Amino acid sequence: GAGNGFQTLVLVKPDAVQRRLVGDVIGRFERRGFKLVAMKLLQADRGLLDQHYQHLQQKPFYPALLAYMTSGPLVAMVWEGYNVVRSTRAMVGDTDSAKAAAGTIRGDLSMHVSRNVVHASDSVETALKEIGFWFQRDELVAWECGDSQYTY
Ligand code: PPS
Repeated sequence: GAGNGFQTLVLVKPDAVQRRLVGDVIGRFERRGFKLVAMKLLQADRGLLDQHYQHLQQKPFYPALLAYMTSGPLVAMVWEGYNVVRSTRAMVGDTDSAKAAAGTIRGDLSMHVSRNVVHASDSVETALKEIGFWFQRDELVAWECGDSQYTY
């Protein structure tokens, strides 16, 4: 259930869309075994980003972050699975791409924090909030594949 980090929000940021990295990012979560339950390409507007990054609005880098996140469309996704919030953060790597380990998304695909390819919710509580910012309830699709490997 939600206590295990049942669902998390992942954003494939505009730099990654522009660099044709969407499939690479999605493929990593699919191969890990997580289940895709919602996805859309959209141009984020300021209001949505102000909500999503509410805790960062006073930071000196916030104007640059806004410009980056509105520089083109991004892909918003909800992934589901056992311990998905924590596992996804580990797969994404350190916020500062320069410190991100090789093998992580940022360690493989990004040089700098200001173009760090993806966002992933940092806790179960944050994930619940963030999924609500980016998706309507009826945009989340419940599905089963009948393979016990993916039952958790
Ligand atoms: S903080 O101050 O500790 O809350 O910030 P941090 O956790 O390091 O980063 C929060 C998000 O801000 C992004 N960030 C930046 N974006 C653009 N330019 C600069 N300089 C910058 N510094 C931090 C960082 O990627 C985090 O975004 P998300 O989408 O949450 O990963």
